[in-house]
Amino acid sequence: MNTAATPPATMHASTHNRQIRLARRPVGMPVRDDWSFTTEAVVEPADGGLLVKTRALSLDPAMRGWMNEGKSYIAPVAIGEVMRAGGIGEVIASRNPRFAAGDLVTGALGVQEYASFTEAEAKKAGLAKIDTRLGSVTQWLNVLGMPGMTGYFGLMEVGQAKAGDTVVVSGAAGAVGQTVGQLARIKGCRVVGIAGGPAKCEWVVKELGFDACIDYKAGNVKAALREHCPKGVDVYFDNVGGDILDDVLTRIGRGARIVICGAISQYNNTTAVQGPKNYMSLLVNRARMEGMVVFDYADRYPQAIAELAGYLRDGRMKSKEDVVLGIENFPKALLKLFSGENFGKLVLEVA
Ligand SMILES: NC(=O)c1ccc[n+]([C@@H]2O[C@H](COP(=O)([O-])OP(=O)(O)OC[C@H]3O[C@@H](n4cnc5c(N)ncnc54)[C@H](OP(=O)(O)O)[C@@H]3O)[C@@H](O)[C@H]2O)c1
Repeated sequence: MNTAATPPATMHASTHNRQIRLARRPVGMPVRDDWSFTTEAVVEPADGGLLVKTRALSLDPAMRGWMNEGKSYIAPVAIGEVMRAGGIGEVIASRNPRFAAGDLVTGALGVQEYASFTEAEAKKAGLAKIDTRLGSVTQWLNVLGMPGMTGYFGLMEVGQAKAGDTVVVSGAAGAVGQTVGQLARIKGCRVVGIAGGPAKCEWVVKELGFDACIDYKAGNVKAALREHCPKGVDVYFDNVGGDILDDVLTRIGRGARIVICGAISQYNNTTAVQGPKNYMSLLVNRARMEGMVVFDYADRYPQAIAELAGYLRDGRMKSKEDVVLGIENFPKALLKLFSGENFGKLVLEVA
């Protein structure tokens, strides 16, 4: 174990850290002027600290919420602060006994090329080593990372999915959706995805083994739900909110569980969030709708990672990541989540 200051092979006095900071709070869809680009010198870590070179960052719909003022499950990113982002990086200098140069770590690195931590900051950022024998760097941001954990605990704990259930998942070809649908199949459920466009629908059915997929951009979601969920919906894993949530509410069965994971259709609204009109269906069907935040399950991630890594290894689960290159492309790349241009988990490769 390396406890001494390690002269990093890839760092020297003139190494600079390019960063992207939140310049102002966006109104509606974020634009280029909402960001500022800065460069700082990289400094050697102090006693107990470490320096990480970013390899890849997770681009998440939640980032849009973190840019807003107001109370949420986590504090907003402050104006002028480096944009918050989870990622994977390589330790290039360590004076912390838990990490050695060369380790690959996951945690809150921020949108920057280098992340330097004191001992306390490393804990707060949730820095942990990853084992690339279980999955690639990008898979550690997808099925084995935060989206996979969301899918796992959302489906199994909040959704209480069990064999024989009909599970519907929106955002089906996205990061969370691909884990939810495949895991539900593995657990013996009938799985119906909802996604935008024929390519995504074909992929989740042909490649991931979903029983059906509804292209919500092509036509009548309600009618398609009637066709594909003849016995009603037992679990709806909601990633999008809005009209699709309302449509699914008309098809739920008795005792159904609706997992409120996200509502991406509402994140860039400049008017009030659209609430469900058909919520009386919960009463009629003795059903429930429950919100979840993945971080509440952090102490159980190792169990979920071990199970999901097993499915990746034995081929029962596949993963798809959509990789954009270059930190300077962050502002544009983030928008792919809201236009639906990302196909699979959106990752920004930094180096
Ligand atoms: N609660 C938690 O702890 C937690 C944790 C992680 C993620 N989440 C939430 O889970 C959801 C999925 O996140 P992700 O990382 O897996 O993203 P993702 O599904 O990989 O990407 C976002 C996708 O949302 C779809 N979308 C965008 N605008 C839409 C609209 N107006 N109506 C319907 N679909 C729309 C697009 O797919 P199409 O092309 O199919 O439209 C897009 O590709 C988000 O709502 C996110 O906030 C919650």
